[in-house]
Amino acid sequence: MSRVFITGSADGLGLAAAALLLSQGHEVIGHARDAERAADLRRAAPGITGVAVGDLSGAAATRSIADQVNALGRLDAVIHNAGVGYRENRKVTTADGHAYVLAVNVLAPYLLTALIDRPARLVYLSSGMHRGGTPSADDLDWSRRRWNGSQAYSDSKLHDTVLAFALARRWPDVLSNAVDPGWVATKMGGRGAPDDLSLGAVTQAWLAVSDDPAARVSGELFYHQRPRAAHPAARSPQFQDELLTALADLTGVKLPA
Ligand SMILES: NC(=O)c1ccc[n+]([C@@H]2O[C@H](COP(=O)([O-])OP(=O)(O)OC[C@H]3O[C@@H](n4cnc5c(N)ncnc54)[C@H](OP(=O)(O)O)[C@@H]3O)[C@@H](O)[C@H]2O)c1
Repeated sequence: MSRVFITGSADGLGLAAAALLLSQGHEVIGHARDAERAADLRRAAPGITGVAVGDLSGAAATRSIADQVNALGRLDAVIHNAGVGYRENRKVTTADGHAYVLAVNVLAPYLLTALIDRPARLVYLSSGMHRGGTPSADDLDWSRRRWNGSQAYSDSKLHDTVLAFALARRWPDVLSNAVDPGWVATKMGGRGAPDDLSLGAVTQAWLAVSDDPAARVSGELFYHQRPRAAHPAARSPQFQDELLTALADLTGVKLPA
């Protein structure tokens, strides 16, 4: 049995991964943005061990999530699942002054990675759209560029992939991978999404807990339990280091060595 923390588990793929892991006899710690969504999560996944509460768009709340999770004891795996989508047609800025998509999709998983006691496995939700991401750590907050919501989402999913690969390189004792779940009909994916929703959470759950040698690898992007080519820039140690430096600057938190 493994203990797995899943961000954004009140809905969509996070809830599906929680349900799948619980059905396999694993222990799941969930996460929801507020008390109301935490109650929804407890109703939807009654077997859940605990629920960390906090809005991932703010650094203080994200730090508090890390504290809540650490207080519950050591984890075997973290699935960085929570995310916001590609349909933001105007730039939303958080109370901390960051682009909302960057804050939720990139700054939060980076902070949680740095602040949660190191688990044995890390899984980051990427997307096929990461291939259209801009391979640069400049202007992450879209202060100088004209806002493009779809591009901001693609960039954030490239950054998640880079995070997964950078952690695989920096922390060789941890298995760190990224997952493209396919385009599936969640709140984010929308009703017309063509891929199989029932398969959408399988790969991240498998990477988090399975002893299958195919799942016990690090530094890969998976699609339906198979490695898939990632944006070539995600493999560049230079780009990985530039991104980690930029994220440390934006959050004021350095990744532990
Ligand atoms: N669906 C797809 O087709 C698809 C394709 C490629 C990649 N992905 C990736 O898969 C992951 C999960 O997506 P999904 O389709 O399951 O999306 P979803 O149904 O919209 O669920 C996203 C989850 O994240 C939570 N969340 C969003 N913003 C948050 C915030 N500021 N603070 C706390 N929690 C927050 C949501 O909470 P609430 O429920 O309270 O809003 C929800 O539980 C994302 O990282 C996404 O980029 C999805």
